[in-house]
Amino acid sequence: MSEQVQGGQVRVGAEAELPEGSQTEVTVDGVGVVVVRYEGQFYALRNNCTHKDYPLLGGEVSLGRITCAKHGAKFELATGKAKTLPAVKPVRVYRTQVEGGQVYVLPL
Ligand code: FES
Repeated sequence: MSEQVQGGQVRVGAEAELPEGSQTEVTVDGVGVVVVRYEGQFYALRNNCTHKDYPLLGGEVSLGRITCAKHGAKFELATGKAKTLPAVKPVRVYRTQVEGGQVYVLPL
């Protein structure tokens, strides 16, 4: 369950409980966002592939990209850019913040 706190940011959880490679879905302003920990950093992307409406949550992550499990499009975690077909449009990315040992997603 995600919890919207002051300033509209959403708490994902304690940094210590979000290990490398973890993926967590939160809701930011009514929209599903997947938070991925990759090489120690937290990345947040809209949890919808831009090819068809399919969640990115659970997709394989490698080389800084998350793969849509449906047809294999890859999106860059840092920018949301579509790097391989069949997707061409980017997914929305959100900023993340670690504060007091807690991880947050900031609203757009
Ligand atoms: S729905 Fe994601 S690649 Fe087709």
